[in-house]
Amino acid sequence: MPEASKVKGVFSAIAPKYDAANRIISCGMDIGWRREVVNLVAARKPSAVLDLATGSGDMAFALRKTLPPTCQILGIDFCEPMLEVARRKKAELSWAADITFAQGDAMNLALPDESVDAVTIGWGLRNFDDRTKGLSEIRRVLKKGGALYCLEFSQPYRWIRFPYYFYLRHVMPILARIVTGRRDSYEYLVGTVSAFPGREILAAEMRAAGFAKARAFPRFFSIVAIHEAVK
Ligand SMILES: C[S@@+](CC[C@H](N)C(=O)[O-])C[C@H]1O[C@@H](n2cnc3c(N)ncnc32)[C@H](O)[C@@H]1O
Repeated sequence: MPEASKVKGVFSAIAPKYDAANRIISCGMDIGWRREVVNLVAARKPSAVLDLATGSGDMAFALRKTLPPTCQILGIDFCEPMLEVARRKKAELSWAADITFAQGDAMNLALPDESVDAVTIGWGLRNFDDRTKGLSEIRRVLKKGGALYCLEFSQPYRWIRFPYYFYLRHVMPILARIVTGRRDSYEYLVGTVSAFPGREILAAEMRAAGFAKARAFPRFFSIVAIHEAVK
């Protein structure tokens, strides 16, 4: 798992260009996947949602658009330059004024036990330096019956692995360098994506962290997966 100082450095370096790079690398599909997560969260009729590893805030904004104004939305990230982007975007969106963006480490959340109904993480879990600790911290802040929704890269179906890893290793870093000027940051991404567990293993890790149920929904040939883990 990556070191926290390295992760902060990577995201600090690309923060101003992160959204543009995301759209280009995922061909805009990231927006639809976040929307799916938001719909799963909305079905639970939550009164408080934590968007962990919120980064530039896109998941928090998508939650705000769908959830009723009575639902509190808190975005936490440990990388201040990414939070600055989120706060700048929030300042331009009148309907997002009540989202709170705060600096914090997923390994040690400054939130009481059982204080939120749902936790979302978009492409954050892969960057945690201790996934077991992060998952148990999420479980701690969730109310009983509350759920974690994790949107993350996964391991693709076997038949698509060769073209996918070719794209990831040889095409994506070039696109990323053109958009962000930082090829090295996206080489980091390739490393973390290759090392990340597939759906079954991640669901098992969630259950081992104390979640009562965990299931995964593969998306786009299982290149991406949405995991739901219920406390
Ligand atoms: C790929 S970005 C995802 C941003 C956003 N969730 C999205 O959907 O686009 C990953 C984010 O995870 C954050 N992160 C990684 N480890 C963290 C930790 N231990 N605590 C808080 N944030 C963390 C990074 O700072 C970065 O902003």
